[in-house]
Amino acid sequence: STKLRVSEALTGAEVGADVKVQGWVRSVRSQKNNIFFHVNDGSSLKSLQVVAGAEMNDPLLTFGSAVEVTGILKKSPHQKQPVELEAEQIRVVGGCNPVDFPFKIKERHSLEYIRQLPHLRCRTNAFSSLLRIRSEATAAIHSYFKDHGFVQIHTPIITSNDCEGAGELFKVEPSGPDFGDDEEFFSVPAFLTVSGQLHLEVMSGAFSRVYTFGPTFRAENSQSRRHLAEFFMVEAEISFTESLKDLTKVMEDMFRSATERVLARCVEDVDLFHRHVTPGHRWGCDLMTEHEKHLVKHCGNVPVFVTDYPYDLKPFYARDNQDQPRHTTAAVDLLVPGIGELCGGSLREERLDLLMARLKQVGLEDNYSWYLDLRRFGAVPHGGFGLGFERYLQCILGVDNIKDVIPFPRFSHSCLL
Ligand code: 4AD
Ligand code: MG
Repeated sequence: STKLRVSEALTGAEVGADVKVQGWVRSVRSQKNNIFFHVNDGSSLKSLQVVAGAEMNDPLLTFGSAVEVTGILKKSPHQKQPVELEAEQIRVVGGCNPVDFPFKIKERHSLEYIRQLPHLRCRTNAFSSLLRIRSEATAAIHSYFKDHGFVQIHTPIITSNDCEGAGELFKVEPSGPDFGDDEEFFSVPAFLTVSGQLHLEVMSGAFSRVYTFGPTFRAENSQSRRHLAEFFMVEAEISFTESLKDLTKVMEDMFRSATERVLARCVEDVDLFHRHVTPGHRWGCDLMTEHEKHLVKHCGNVPVFVTDYPYDLKPFYARDNQDQPRHTTAAVDLLVPGIGELCGGSLREERLDLLMARLKQVGLEDNYSWYLDLRRFGAVPHGGFGLGFERYLQCILGVDNIKDVIPFPRFSHSCLL
């Protein structure tokens, strides 16, 4: 018999074949002469129906158990599924006591409930759909950049800089008997990265177009539904960029291209969210979030670019618009309905004298001599942005809480598993 994934079996292409399918039981029903059960192996939202003679029943064949079934794929007499598997042999690989199993057959468990079970929630339809969509969206974003001539850079997780200057750093220190308390492993204070931007700026000086897509860390003491301590960020940096328009075009293009691919390739998974997951209450958002949501609403509940933020509100790298007396920077945020800020970006200050003055003003002139070098050796106007990947998923799927779009959420007072 040929081993098939459930998604392959369900195409119907193998009708008549002798096949083997492995997966987890999603429902079981016994009748006088037959038992019916559904097997899911994560390859699709849909499960494969298995039909077996009553004599093949096994007390261990329960909701949640792992099974291996061999038999013949038949065209199904029912409209709902194209094929079913007529079992010749059933092997329960791993039993699952239905009394202890925290999910119950035919029940729809809330996202809040399954969040308490980070080691098991991937067994539910909703969360497995979410993770398939997340995987497809990841691939779509990498494709976008590859198709547009960007070089992917693995920016470091451990760094000695605080790119955003917001003081939300996690410190990295060795722990173990070989290291004394007063000894610094890297000889300088080291932190988990809050953004790969500065490393991308280095690389944009050689490759023109670069991006990174990896975990970033912020010690936000926030229990909000859109902040995590560990989240994934998509960051791009583009040389020879002279206006925010060039930047917003890439942001918009990437968003569209990734979303179109996800909607086209994950039809059933996305549909599950659009049917069942409705944004809930919004209590507990901070004022900033409220402002952002007001703006989005004011513009007709569509994505909105907000540009030219006040100079004093943006980090040292943002390009000075030199527009006294208002005094703004060439920074841009993309705000989206229901979430608020999805992307933050800016042109970077490439003028050596202005950058030096700014670093001095914020007391950082000693830390960034290498960053100033980039302005000394072949500097060009450049800019970039960062997109919060979990917020992106919330946005396209309508998921209220950011903890429900990442496999293992980390936030203050919670680091399960
Ligand atoms: O706006 P931020 O702080 O921008 C930067 O870090 C820039 N250095 C990026 C760049 O230009 N290369 O963060 C970018 C995005 C935000 O718009 C938001 O979507 C997301 O990252 N984000 C978070 N997502 C989840 N949890 C958090 N704690 C987040 N903080 C920021
Ligand atoms: Mg921001």
